[in-house]
Amino acid sequence: MINNIRNFCIIAHIDHGKSTLADRMLELTGTIEKRRMKEQFLDQMDIERERGITIKLQPVCMEYKYKKEVGKEADSGKYILNLIDTPGHVDFSYEVSRSLAAVEGAVLLVDATQGIQAQTLANLYLAMDQNLTIIPVINKIDLPAADVEKTKNEILKLLGCQENEIIYASGKTGQGVEEVLQAVVERIPGPMTSSDSSGSQEEGAVVRQTEYNRQTSPSDKGGGQEGVLSALIFDSNYDEYRGVVAYIRVVNGGVKKGDKIYLLATRAKSEALDVGIFKPEYRSTGQLKTGEIGYIVTGFKEVDECRVGDTITGQKSADKIQPLKGYNEVKPMVFAGIFPREGSDFQELKEAMEKLKLNDAALTYEAERSEALGFGFRAGFLGLLHLEIFQERLRREYNLDLIVTIPSVAYKVFNKSGPEIIIRTPQKLPDPSEIERIEEPWVSLDIIVPKDYLGNIMELTRGKRGEYKNTEYLDKDRVILHYSIPMAAILTDFYDKIKSVSSGYASINYEFLDYRPAKVVKMDILVAEEPVEALATIVYQDEAFRRGKEIVKILKETLPKQLFVLKLQAAVGGKIVAAERLSAMRKDVTAKLYGGDVTRKRKLLEKQKKGKKKMLAAGKGSVEIPPETFVKILKR
Ligand code: GTP
Repeated sequence: MINNIRNFCIIAHIDHGKSTLADRMLELTGTIEKRRMKEQFLDQMDIERERGITIKLQPVCMEYKYKKEVGKEADSGKYILNLIDTPGHVDFSYEVSRSLAAVEGAVLLVDATQGIQAQTLANLYLAMDQNLTIIPVINKIDLPAADVEKTKNEILKLLGCQENEIIYASGKTGQGVEEVLQAVVERIPGPMTSSDSSGSQEEGAVVRQTEYNRQTSPSDKGGGQEGVLSALIFDSNYDEYRGVVAYIRVVNGGVKKGDKIYLLATRAKSEALDVGIFKPEYRSTGQLKTGEIGYIVTGFKEVDECRVGDTITGQKSADKIQPLKGYNEVKPMVFAGIFPREGSDFQELKEAMEKLKLNDAALTYEAERSEALGFGFRAGFLGLLHLEIFQERLRREYNLDLIVTIPSVAYKVFNKSGPEIIIRTPQKLPDPSEIERIEEPWVSLDIIVPKDYLGNIMELTRGKRGEYKNTEYLDKDRVILHYSIPMAAILTDFYDKIKSVSSGYASINYEFLDYRPAKVVKMDILVAEEPVEALATIVYQDEAFRRGKEIVKILKETLPKQLFVLKLQAAVGGKIVAAERLSAMRKDVTAKLYGGDVTRKRKLLEKQKKGKKKMLAAGKGSVEIPPETFVKILKR
């Protein structure tokens, strides 16, 4: 075991204070000088700072001077602490699971004003799956609303740990932060080495084993052939100046600048152009050794040569090592078409998608051609926030003007003849006469809520076709409700509604369950009697009328007036199910004419009329749908 390194993550429900606690750690260890410090320092992207949410994992290497305390196991001295800050929102949970695979321990943060929430549980289970040592921390104890006693009891019940293992902290005031760092040194085991796997643990390396804290197995995070490099790629990035950068956890051996590297899965070869650690910016060190977390500037020209979950080794050692356990494949929940507004931007969009994919491992996509929208991509996301952030990054970081279609889940279509097919876009839905049945994805849904709101939640989930499974008591006031529910129900306004019917107290977590039969149909939206492809959706048959009405109403409210009356219609199988009319903007072309030149006036009005006809004839291209319309339809 390597005694002077500790690798850990901070995990929590959204907003429970991970990035703020990390700030205090960065200060306390002197990693960031005071003058450079800003709130939530590890949230490096503009979009994270503006929205106040973490969407990317962020590693940082800290040096910490630990003083031995009486009765503690660790030795005094300097420790390297590699921290990975993780997101809390369910849409970015892939960032969490990848971070957890690179470390030996996790600080589990629970906001004392909120108690255990849905992502606290989800992330804890991910950490337990990886056999990580868990350090429970109750945070925000400075707040008057903090209920430390209640939160403590919830944690005791959940983890079955000892009371004295829980640390009380405030990322705001810094209280308890030193204690957390001490616990990281004392309780989290150092990284394993190849000699550990042969059974000889370094002397004095004692790892506690409790029900929730199990020792990391050598085969997970170490124990390869002595000296032979094997490193797990847990993230990657496209840097404008350096090209493809791999974020790695060295599991065995070491890597130096100039070494020839080889990736086991992609079989790509290259040279380590630079090697270093995160401070949190890239800091070249020229080498990385067993147990360390850092980066390699890979020199790869093609972005798909470097995939997360792959194993890096040396070019001469490729046949000597086994690939490290990678990651479970991501299962996208929601799909949307992404098209450049100008067809000529397709190549630019393609390159931007490839580069962003490096930095957003949960993204999946394939090329798609649409009659109306031209060449683009059908992309899969973990949820609507993921989609929203992704398109905003494309717009901001790559300055692209996009059309994004209404998102949809993936349906399984069983045709009367031929094999079953997966449909990710309404356009691909076969003619109803050919379809035997359609199945839609369902998720298992956990809702944590004070029991006073049970009635409201039950009513809401029933309205969304949810099936109640059972209830668990977190404590005497709060429950975990377990449901099965169609994924499509979650993807609309479910989260907002659940917050509103529980006065903001409920939190949810969900994961894919199975496919079940659904009576759904394709609904077209017509503007000026032309179907707008980006607005087509798949809806429940019995909701088509209501949904159609809603959409045409939103169109009427958000589309700019044209020189002619706009017909706005929703249609299922060629039958109009809802319609609105947007009155014309009457541009008074004769306003400039004084006096009574009637012929002139008539001529101008004639010209205007012709113009209207031409625009109508121009059809689909003539009425531009503003992005606001799409957002409103989504968040209806
Ligand atoms: P996500 O990564 O987006 O899930 O958030 P996070 O867990 O990193 O939480 P963050 O550190 O961004 O904090 C969320 C909010 O809580 C911010 O407004 C912080 O200022 C506040 N906050 C964090 N820690 C404390 C604390 O100990 N006390 C008080 N009073 N406020 C805190």
